[in-house]
Amino acid sequence: FDPIGPIVAKKDGDALSDEQIRGVVAGFTDGTVAPEQMSSLLMAIVLRGMDRREIATWTGAMIDSGIRMDFSGLVRSGHRLRTADKHSTGGVGDKITLPLTPLVASFGVAVPQLSGRGLGHTGGTLDKLESIPGWRADLTADQMHRQLAEVGAVVCAATADLAPADRKLYALRDVTGTVASIPLIASSIMSKKIAEGTESLVLDVKVGSGAFMKTLDDARELAETMVALGTDAGVTTSALLTDMSTPLGRSAGNAVEVTESLDVLAGGGPDDVVELTLALAREMLDAAGLPDADPAEHLRNGRAMDSWRAMITAQGGDPDAPMPTPRHRHDVLADDDGRLAELDALAVGQAAWLLGAGRSRPGESVSATAGVTWHAAFGDPVRRGQPLLTLHTDDETRIPAALAALDGAVGIESAVGRPGSRVLARV
Ligand code: URA
Repeated sequence: FDPIGPIVAKKDGDALSDEQIRGVVAGFTDGTVAPEQMSSLLMAIVLRGMDRREIATWTGAMIDSGIRMDFSGLVRSGHRLRTADKHSTGGVGDKITLPLTPLVASFGVAVPQLSGRGLGHTGGTLDKLESIPGWRADLTADQMHRQLAEVGAVVCAATADLAPADRKLYALRDVTGTVASIPLIASSIMSKKIAEGTESLVLDVKVGSGAFMKTLDDARELAETMVALGTDAGVTTSALLTDMSTPLGRSAGNAVEVTESLDVLAGGGPDDVVELTLALAREMLDAAGLPDADPAEHLRNGRAMDSWRAMITAQGGDPDAPMPTPRHRHDVLADDDGRLAELDALAVGQAAWLLGAGRSRPGESVSATAGVTWHAAFGDPVRRGQPLLTLHTDDETRIPAALAALDGAVGIESAVGRPGSRVLARV
């Protein structure tokens, strides 16, 4: 297959044919299309875009590069289990998968949550869960099936044979400045979720400084593109556009986010994390045929926590083990009296990353204890000299760089509006 034709066509702003798309994706996956050729095509796509047909064909070609999982035969106590999953486009302090997965599973819905590790300033769900002593992310397809049937909740790593074209393409995009493209992001996410075999999917599309999409218009276009891809593939798909201008909850990092998730599962936790967890749970339960289920009830009565304990135990973790604590903590003090008017999500994410919570290249290990916690939410009163943020790390030498990343990230004003809902719109 000669990739020059599609490269030049896209450079000139023409639509690619289905054969061109299938040829170039299959060729890149098997190594006959070289990385420099693919990166040239990717940059042309970033600049020229793709139409809906091209995006659908590109997504299909990535799905066809690997296996498709099938959970249609899941049965518990003689009843067929419905499957529902959630995907977030990634944000700072976004630990929602941790409380959400067991919460939805506590209603008898199977949640096959294939998750990733973090790269850059947004943390990875698997990295967070790996701070629980003993917990393992790697399950075989058989283990995943069994856990879905018995427990309902699974959060695990995608196997190498699920959309391998996307894995290879994403690694190339990451080092060629070609991540930020709605067609490429939509096809990347949806190829994995469709191949995963879930019957229904709720997308949490983040908007704001800590997200890929900085504006509501871009987030809406990404959401509409992904909902159309899912729907056309037979997956019941909806999306919430949610605010990521300030980080979610009160923590960003690994163990600190598990601790906060446990607060939510115990019926407490920060208001915004609870709001978003419940909003996404209602979408998933509705799509799974349970429109009258009340997820807040299962946070209050312990059913969601029981489901969490079963999920962690099934993957080798000890739900009663104390979470690891950092060797060093450093407080950042408020420099004024007033109300918290700004806490920039991107800056907090970068600080957590610099403290050791994230990686700068694939395969690096991350620190379980590293992260940032903050002690006021948007609009809360603060007093000069009070601890506003706390940096957590095992490596003291990382603190100055994290402090530099936070420079200018906090705003304190005498009057601010009430915090709005995290949920901005539904698609
Ligand atoms: N997440 C993905 O899985 N793919 C992208 O391209 C961006 C975010």
